[in-house]
Amino acid sequence: MTCTWLWSRNYWKKAKPLIAHREQIRQFFDRLAPSYSRRYRPSDNPWLAYWFGARLEQALKFLPAGKACVLDVGCGIGTAYERLQDMKFQGEYYGCDISLEMLAQSNIPAERQINASPEDEAFPALQADLILALGVTSYWPTPELKTLLQAMANHLAPNGRLVLSCTDPSGLDYRLRCRLQPLLRAVGVRRKAVAHPIYAYSRDDLAAILPDSLYITDQQFLPATFPLLAPFFPSLNLRFSRLISLPPLSFFRTDFLLVLEIS
Ligand SMILES: C[S@@+](CC[C@H](N)C(=O)[O-])C[C@H]1O[C@@H](n2cnc3c(N)ncnc32)[C@H](O)[C@@H]1O
Repeated sequence: MTCTWLWSRNYWKKAKPLIAHREQIRQFFDRLAPSYSRRYRPSDNPWLAYWFGARLEQALKFLPAGKACVLDVGCGIGTAYERLQDMKFQGEYYGCDISLEMLAQSNIPAERQINASPEDEAFPALQADLILALGVTSYWPTPELKTLLQAMANHLAPNGRLVLSCTDPSGLDYRLRCRLQPLLRAVGVRRKAVAHPIYAYSRDDLAAILPDSLYITDQQFLPATFPLLAPFFPSLNLRFSRLISLPPLSFFRTDFLLVLEIS
């Protein structure tokens, strides 16, 4: 099974047992929280603002009509909540996140915030019609992701859908970043090019670790990125993206949404 990451192997050699992994992720997002909203501002980073917006819009197409219950796993600063408010969403929304600082930056009402991960014992017994997990899988190695998938399946209503985003390990941008990562670090651009370890999973990788109760109903690719351009020339990348997302240039595509339902 393919599961690669962008940081040096030494990082993980030094890493403590897996219990520490969650703590590292939490601390990482706690630190990032005060500036996270800038990613959604076109004036700060036109590429990220466009890409995050496109990912969210694409995922929300799977919102059921009428009064639904939405569970946003790894809700961060509550961007999906804000978008649902704009859409005059009448249903119930719950946002969960392991980072209290990310939740604190959100406008999600306190009673709809859950500072936990779905597999935690204290997690409320929710049955959601739509579970979103956008930008979450890439932080989890296979065993933890397997547990998380099972936990999300347990919180899905019988006709519910789980929409999650993944980074495909065969994507050109991803592969080049992995290859060039030692060089980028050597010339001191690690922060821009590689912010955190990224675990990549193809559709088949995910299919291999799904609980029996879940099956894949759809896969949709997200706007493509021109290799290595996004961190340095976001506006230029945005221009290229519209062109290289066209089907004949599918090798530029890296990230995708996977839609899952209860079998
Ligand atoms: C890259 S951010 C994405 C935030 C939001 N979904 C978005 O699209 O803007 C990932 C978020 O997921 C949270 N997270 C990661 N793993 C999680 C887990 N197992 N349970 C709950 N939150 C998690 C992180 O703390 C972080 O806030």
